[in-house]
Amino acid sequence: MNRIFSFILLGLTISAFGQQTIKPLVEAKNGMVVSTHPAASQIGLDVLKKGGNAIDAAVAVNFALAVCHPAAGNIGGGGFLVYRSAKGKAYTLDYREMAPLAGSRDMYLDSTGKVIPGKSFVGIHSVGVPGAVAGMQAMHKRFGKLSWAELVQPSIDLARNGVVLTEKEARGLNRNRTDFMRYNPGRAYMVKADSTHWVPGELFIQTDLAKTLERILAKKARGFYQGETADLLVNEMQRQGGIITHRDLKSYRAIWRKPLVSQFNQYSIIGMPPPSSGGLAIGQLFTMIKSYPLARLGAQSDSTIQIMIEAERRVYADRAKWLGDPDFVKVPVKPLLDEAYLTQRMSSMQFVRATKSSDVAAGEFPAYESPETTHYSIVDQDGNAVSITTTLNNSYGSKVFVGGAGFLLNDEMDDFSAKAGVPNLYGLVGTKANEIQPRKRMLSSMTPTIVTEGNRLKLVVGTPGGSTIITSVFQVMLNSLVFGMNMQAAVEYPRFHHQWLPDLTRYEAKRFDEAQIGRLKSKMYELTPSGNIGLVEGILVLPDGKYQGGADSRGDDTALGY
Ligand code: GLY
Repeated sequence: MNRIFSFILLGLTISAFGQQTIKPLVEAKNGMVVSTHPAASQIGLDVLKKGGNAIDAAVAVNFALAVCHPAAGNIGGGGFLVYRSAKGKAYTLDYREMAPLAGSRDMYLDSTGKVIPGKSFVGIHSVGVPGAVAGMQAMHKRFGKLSWAELVQPSIDLARNGVVLTEKEARGLNRNRTDFMRYNPGRAYMVKADSTHWVPGELFIQTDLAKTLERILAKKARGFYQGETADLLVNEMQRQGGIITHRDLKSYRAIWRKPLVSQFNQYSIIGMPPPSSGGLAIGQLFTMIKSYPLARLGAQSDSTIQIMIEAERRVYADRAKWLGDPDFVKVPVKPLLDEAYLTQRMSSMQFVRATKSSDVAAGEFPAYESPETTHYSIVDQDGNAVSITTTLNNSYGSKVFVGGAGFLLNDEMDDFSAKAGVPNLYGLVGTKANEIQPRKRMLSSMTPTIVTEGNRLKLVVGTPGGSTIITSVFQVMLNSLVFGMNMQAAVEYPRFHHQWLPDLTRYEAKRFDEAQIGRLKSKMYELTPSGNIGLVEGILVLPDGKYQGGADSRGDDTALGY
């Protein structure tokens, strides 16, 4: 009954939103790019059509997103790559930002030891040493086929000639104009010269950014970490009292890490290891739910939702306690993924009423990330697959532009815990494993994921959404792997989120039925309505080898194939 109701609900949801919000299913046999912006997906597709592979397309899409989706696409932030070659070998690349050399555990505390509100997530002090351009060079050097210039030039053209603003991009720029002016004193980045608001359809031209991209085209990562771009970045730091130096920039390195592979039924899930919590959390979640008959219970039935919430509650409790940068703290990956341990963790779950988060673990709390990040999934003609999540952290990062260089800097330092045990601005806190140390990478929730079935590529997926990233990826994977939805339906489906603390479940208000919410409340679940959760980009490989794209209708997301 519940299952039938869920599908009726999706039908109602589709008609309630109108056909224009539900994107068509895209299928293609040669290659597919799914990203959050049509211009970026087009640039990626052009690269594939030109004979580039998935890594080539990924590099081109990254630079394109830095131009057309400045809220999260970036060269001033960082990210993670999960890559599976057509030959079946998996790789991950960590180009996460790092704490500057002058960073320290207490850098966001005042003289009385209190956290200074806002200092870690907006303005010049919130910036971590960017990793994105080093990451692009590292992946291109190892796997790229086309020349670097061919991959950067389209974004230079886009920045110089202008990108057509979508309604969402125009709204984002207008909403942030006060912050842009405040955190860039004496400069007016992304604010129109005549002070009017941006309107959808208008051309958005970024000449300084085009020049920075030209330096990156000419010198690769040296065009960012050294020379004029580095000088401009360090000048901005000095102008506003920031701490990143030439030494920080010059010494930044992207790191190839061993992929974290976990099993779920016949599937292998290739995920990002720490300093992301994503791969480990997904591995834990799937092990925790695998003995429950979810397919029989149905997608979004009350019982399915309960099982998922209870698993999420327990996983986020572990995340808070154990996870941090593996180069600085010992992360007990194997014990945390142990099946007996995870089965035991779920043994306290009861269908009659919700577990209390205070009974799962007491006294320590999960870190939280703000919801702005972006993801893209790519598969090429040979079957090479790329899953990349990249971020500035908050929307438009620190809001600080590098003067004369035209790009935004991240505010990733807020992904550290400013003080162990003390809530940050979002009312949540982290622990010792994720405290600040010079050159340490801050804990992330980004969950770029690739799934295989036997030797076959099955699914490429990921999303932005801060702490909701893990649970959104989890839900879309279940929709596809267990409930058999096509990629677009899996991505569209209503989402909810629980992260241990606070002890409540957020659900997409417009996509759920209030009667179901009432039933869950009667079992002592605290539920709170929310706006959209996540912007998922997925590619499913069909049994005949065709690629099926899923581009989230919650954003400008676009699946293009050929
Ligand atoms: N800043 C979002 C994340 O890394 O999880």
